[in-house]
Amino acid sequence: MITTIGTDLQKAVALLIANELVAIPTETVYGLAGNALSEVAVSKIYAAKNRPSFNPLILHVKNIDEINRYAEADIHSLIIAKVLMPGPITLLLPKKNTVPDITTAGSNKVAIRIPNHPLTLALLEQINFPLAAPSANPSGYISPTSANHVYDGLEGKIGYVLDGGPTSVGLESTICEVMGDHILLHRVGGISAAQLTDLTGLEVKYTALPTIPQTPGQLKSHYAPNTPLFRGNIEQLIQEHQGKKIAIISLSKDFSDDNVNCFCLSSKGDLSEAANQLFATLRKIDLGNYEVILAEVFPESGIGIAINDRIERAQYILK
Ligand code: TXA
Ligand code: MG
Repeated sequence: MITTIGTDLQKAVALLIANELVAIPTETVYGLAGNALSEVAVSKIYAAKNRPSFNPLILHVKNIDEINRYAEADIHSLIIAKVLMPGPITLLLPKKNTVPDITTAGSNKVAIRIPNHPLTLALLEQINFPLAAPSANPSGYISPTSANHVYDGLEGKIGYVLDGGPTSVGLESTICEVMGDHILLHRVGGISAAQLTDLTGLEVKYTALPTIPQTPGQLKSHYAPNTPLFRGNIEQLIQEHQGKKIAIISLSKDFSDDNVNCFCLSSKGDLSEAANQLFATLRKIDLGNYEVILAEVFPESGIGIAINDRIERAQYILK
């Protein structure tokens, strides 16, 4: 299959109606989209990404009526949807049987969001089905924040990449689930726990996920570059890795030296800009023949929490 990149909405619509896959821009990362109601299209998504069949997909819809068509939304979830969507937030809700089991990998819950990108919202207006879309990267690698990133990872496996420019948030959506008297946060992202509490009055609890195994080799990493990445105090890490060709990821401090190349994610120390640059920078470093990536611990506030989460998951784990 020949993969092309362009801005032709009609071409994207025609491919999706024919149960083919199209990579779509969102404000978070690019998604690999197919008709969420078609088993044929959804199985192509799993195949193209080499994604394990037990890992469910997010439904992308155009409005709140559509959320109600595919899920049972409680009052707090509807408030979150009304105020924060379209936006970088995904709701995990009880699924209606309008959604095929393959899309949710057999789960009776469905993850659903309204992406905030004009091209993709226009696309959703022109089709009468929701789009299932995981991030448009081969399973396990860094999520794509530009059309070229998608092409680099999935060339030959999908027909078309709808180019909506670089994404504006740059990290995957926050995933949350209202549990009656509290909210469970399954993935940190562009919307913070504090924002959810302010909006609903509900306490936010984090899902206890073993992100970093105690013993190397226990768990496969996610969002991971090929170059080994270590996180912590930069001066100390530089000592430990002396003699190697080092790439550093920092917020704004420049650690450059003879064998050390520093990539500041935001020279003015802006965490949103840093979040936006993280994945593209990891990809650039991966192409640059470095032996090791050393990453700073970012401030644990706002989207800094999501930056730290992604860097933690990108850490070097023996596979
Ligand atoms: O920002 C985003 O959410 C991007 C853009 C493309 O929308 N999508 C994205 O999809 O990050 P993906 O598949 O890479 O990550 C979705 C996560 C996965 O960890 C998946 O296991 C979880 O959401 N998920 C999806 N449906 C679920 C369900 N029914 N129950 C539990 N977890 C679910
Ligand atoms: Mg993903």
